[in-house]
Amino acid sequence: MRAAVMTLLRGRKARLTADRRFEAGQRLRDIAAGRLSACRAAKVSLHDVSVSFAPDRSAAVVSGLELTILPGEFVTFLGPSGCGKTTLLNVIGGMILPTTGKVRINDALVTAPTPMCNIVFQQHSLFEWMRVADNVAFGPRALGHPDPRGEAMRFLHLVGLEEHADAYPVTLSGGMRQRVAIARALATSPSVLLMDEPFGALDAQTRSIMQEELLKLRRSIAPTVIFVTHDVDEALLLSDRIFVMRAMPGGLKEEIAADGMFRHKEKVLRNGKYRALRQHILTQIREETLKVFNRPNRMQR
Ligand SMILES: Nc1ncnc2c1ncn2[C@@H]1O[C@H](COP(=O)(O)OP(=O)(O)OP(=O)(O)O)[C@@H](O)[C@H]1O
Ligand SMILES: [Mg+2]
Repeated sequence: MRAAVMTLLRGRKARLTADRRFEAGQRLRDIAAGRLSACRAAKVSLHDVSVSFAPDRSAAVVSGLELTILPGEFVTFLGPSGCGKTTLLNVIGGMILPTTGKVRINDALVTAPTPMCNIVFQQHSLFEWMRVADNVAFGPRALGHPDPRGEAMRFLHLVGLEEHADAYPVTLSGGMRQRVAIARALATSPSVLLMDEPFGALDAQTRSIMQEELLKLRRSIAPTVIFVTHDVDEALLLSDRIFVMRAMPGGLKEEIAADGMFRHKEKVLRNGKYRALRQHILTQIREETLKVFNRPNRMQR
């Protein structure tokens, strides 16, 4: 994993053109000087996006995706395992090029990883050999920020971990590690934050606190967030819009407007609309999951 992340970051750094590097550095200087708010949310659009990993481009994993995500929107993808959620995030982040179709961020075609997008993985994504502050300072330093440590401390403060700046990740709890990962992702002021089951490995209590923290962070720094989870309650709590994905090939089965209606956890359990929507989504996911389990020749593989 460490090697994969390093390769990804090296690739990302190498692909930054001089112009982009200047622009990103300038933006960070503007943020430090208070001339800009921390994030400038971006619009994300996908036009007829398909991805196939087969050499002959057959057997698409996701197919014909058509979607526009508005600046500052919080969008969540739910769907059965293997339906292409991570693939979709990788395509938006420029880590995978679509086999057909186009991805645009603010109308600029995505052809490689860009500092406008950052990703938080489910787990194991910190640089274990670096102190917490150095993990968070990594992005600003790579982009030529004049004070990467100061920038790291600012984001560690936001996630309540500035006292652990000099600790190594191994000494932190799972929830603290994910907060560092979020601070690191935010420290380059991405316009789009991609989150792939970021709380999936946490216990229920920590997960609940992290969800509240994310909502708070979102109020102060407002990037566009594209989130993946298997947890329907988490999706309803956090999202403006939810997309249930279909399987084989992956695509959008249904769009659900949550509109941030269910952000008060203590109230939602008594809310009839919430219960109905939750049940509806679970039924949709189950239908897609059964398709995967019942597909012909599954046992012969
Ligand atoms: N690099 C790759 N090469 C070949 N096949 C891949 C590659 N990455 C993903 N796949 C395949 O694409 C499909 C979708 O994978 P993906 O990881 O996007 O699913 P997912 O929806 O994120 O699943 P999960 O919920 O289990 O994380 C799977 O069948 C997977 O085996
Ligand atoms: Mg996945």
